[in-house]
Amino acid sequence: MRVLHTFAEVREASVGITSLVPTMGYLHEGHLSLMATARGESDTVVVSLFVNPLQFNDQEDLARYPRDLDRDGRLAREAGVDLLFAPPLEVMYPMPALTRVTVSSLVTEMEGAYRPGHFEGVATVVAKLLAGLQPQRAYLGRKDAQQLAVIRRMAFDLSFPVDIVGGQTVRESDGLALSSRNVFLDRNERDRALGISRGLMAAADAFETGARDAHTLEGKVREMVTGAEVDYVTLADAHTAVPLSGVDRDAFLAVAARVGSTRLIDNVPFLAEPGGAISVDRGFRLSGPSILYGDRHAIDY
Ligand code: PAF
Repeated sequence: MRVLHTFAEVREASVGITSLVPTMGYLHEGHLSLMATARGESDTVVVSLFVNPLQFNDQEDLARYPRDLDRDGRLAREAGVDLLFAPPLEVMYPMPALTRVTVSSLVTEMEGAYRPGHFEGVATVVAKLLAGLQPQRAYLGRKDAQQLAVIRRMAFDLSFPVDIVGGQTVRESDGLALSSRNVFLDRNERDRALGISRGLMAAADAFETGARDAHTLEGKVREMVTGAEVDYVTLADAHTAVPLSGVDRDAFLAVAARVGSTRLIDNVPFLAEPGGAISVDRGFRLSGPSILYGDRHAIDY
């Protein structure tokens, strides 16, 4: 694996079908599963690693975002990645970015409402990565369901010749969705955070026994998230991110909640099959502790 720092170096080193896994680093099994899928479908796998200041509306959140290039490099190499693109700030933003990408109506609800400017930062940096690296495929996690919708729409509207591929959410063994931010949770906060995934699983159970309306499904989540401060629980269209009154198409039930000083998001997607049936995707569960915690046991520490 080569570690490269400029767009031109990556383009020169890429051969054949090139896939990009964009990340902000501090890799976990969610990222690794995207890399494994990309590895199986491409000649060159590029992982970008850049903590993008443009998408942080809270400067404290940016300052404390976990960073460890050596650790990420080792994990990416073990995952069979060909090129690790780790641009310094002056390569990504040699001058202040006067051109910004806004994906209008998709960003008014949920994360867009709670993190003003966040999606403009995400869409801008991903547009720069797609333009600068020119991958044929880009892999992003479904855990950030609204982000996935925004990036898909941005790539479509701007005619990027790229397939945006969504990967299943990876969960810790007790259900907590993997996020680099999980490392901030102390034991008590982690216990309280579990209400988020338990609420989503309760909603998935209700869906599987026939519940379809948003009020019932959102209520199941709210009942379980007692140890965290809920920002929103919303059922939304998977493509437009518009709130729905019931599950009748591709959709996701999303939640954002704050546990102490850490803000977490999670969702369960509802997938419409060609024959008309709709299934719920609960994600994939690890059988043991996540690599996020190193030697520290995720649940028993
Ligand atoms: O999901 C992330 O890690 C980031 O939002 C992304 C897509 C890498 C853009 O900075």
